[in-house]
Amino acid sequence: MALLPILIYPDQRLHKIAAPIERVDAEVRRLAADMAETMYAAPGVGLAATQVDVHRRLIVIDVSEDKSQLQVFINPEILEREGECEGEEGCLSVPGIYDSVSRSAWIRVRALDLSGQPFELEAEGMLAVCIQHEMDHLQGKVFVEYLSRLKQTRIKSKFIKQHARITA
Ligand code: NI
Repeated sequence: MALLPILIYPDQRLHKIAAPIERVDAEVRRLAADMAETMYAAPGVGLAATQVDVHRRLIVIDVSEDKSQLQVFINPEILEREGECEGEEGCLSVPGIYDSVSRSAWIRVRALDLSGQPFELEAEGMLAVCIQHEMDHLQGKVFVEYLSRLKQTRIKSKFIKQHARITA
């Protein structure tokens, strides 16, 4: 397994749209394992392949307290959604920024597991929010894009300045 570098906003590669995974093979399983290791090390509760510059529809999530419940979603689709909830979100690609985003409160998702078998899952609360957040990444969308233009501009310039310092 290996730790993968995480793209940092406003990296344009975060806006690429991920392609469906046609075959769940050893390479996909390796990617999922590396992404899980990267997520746990960060530490974070979710990671989308987009964030490690792999533009394929794969997300990993673990919202459990003791980090014992890794969930892998390949080619995830939201079949149904209900209600609305608003909560603070953060993102490993936008370190240190937390803001309120409105999401569906309940979702039913279909995806493939690591053996390529389809499964369905109903989620609410933090898991539902996390799945929606990670699925946005696969569409090239970062959570700060839900915030006001002014906030987005501030966040962007903050990260551009930080990056300039690191590479200077
Ligand atoms: Ni994120």
